Amino acid sequence: MAYEEIDVRPVTPTLGAEIHGVDLSKPLGNRAFSEIHDALIEHQVIFFRDQDITLDQHKDFGRKFGDLHVHPSAPGPEGHPDVLTIHADENAKQIAGERWHSDVSCDPEPPMGSILRLHTIPPEGGDTLFASMYAAYDALSDKMKDYLDGLTAIHDGNPNYHDRAQRDGRKDDRVFPRAEHPLIRTHPVSGKKAIFVNPVFTVGIKDLPRDEADAILRFLYAHNNRPHWQVRFKWQKNSIAFWDNRCVQHIAMWDYFPNVRSGYRVTVKGDRPV
Ligand code: SIN
Repeated sequence: MAYEEIDVRPVTPTLGAEIHGVDLSKPLGNRAFSEIHDALIEHQVIFFRDQDITLDQHKDFGRKFGDLHVHPSAPGPEGHPDVLTIHADENAKQIAGERWHSDVSCDPEPPMGSILRLHTIPPEGGDTLFASMYAAYDALSDKMKDYLDGLTAIHDGNPNYHDRAQRDGRKDDRVFPRAEHPLIRTHPVSGKKAIFVNPVFTVGIKDLPRDEADAILRFLYAHNNRPHWQVRFKWQKNSIAFWDNRCVQHIAMWDYFPNVRSGYRVTVKGDRPV
């Protein structure tokens, strides 16, 4: 891919690239936007450094890629329902994203991408790891691909969000989204196939006996998260990570307690997986 306005520096051959030559506090021209979009599609997760931007600028950047998603469980900061606060300190009992997942995959139309900026980082630790679900799919045997293609997975937000509330000492009776998605999805832009199940939201596989579905999911969770198709992002103050939920899963490391790690996530709506 030839980039003229932005400087794209791949972090691994499989996924992840740092983007330089962009200042997101300034209006983004069409060419720069289109190259950032191309870089996201090519590298699946892209990283920016030194982006000292306001919440409105963060949301303007997200809106270039689509309408903004409102999180079903966590309220945004005052006046910004479409922003998710990511925060942990010495009082935290849990953090967001402690297990491998694709954001809100329980939605009938799960988010296409998430744009996280951290303004406060711990002295060390607090990395985020990303894994390519294209690479995980490609590494399966043809026999396993044939078996999985055409299966439908059930994703449910209720167990996860109710459990999170309970661990925070709250009771949450709201009903959260539940949806059925192809276990192998085809990315609407790249046309590539990706595994689309994760241990936070996937609760079963349609039309399979419970034991068989559990065994397949156990295998896939171990397979999906092999280091061979991971990139590990080391945050700095005002770094941004922008990941494509349609082909990438991520996990946040909580190895910095009781230090503070804090920022905001803008999430872009997506399509029904096919
Ligand atoms: C998340 O969006 O799952 C949180 C990721 C992180 O805090 O690194």
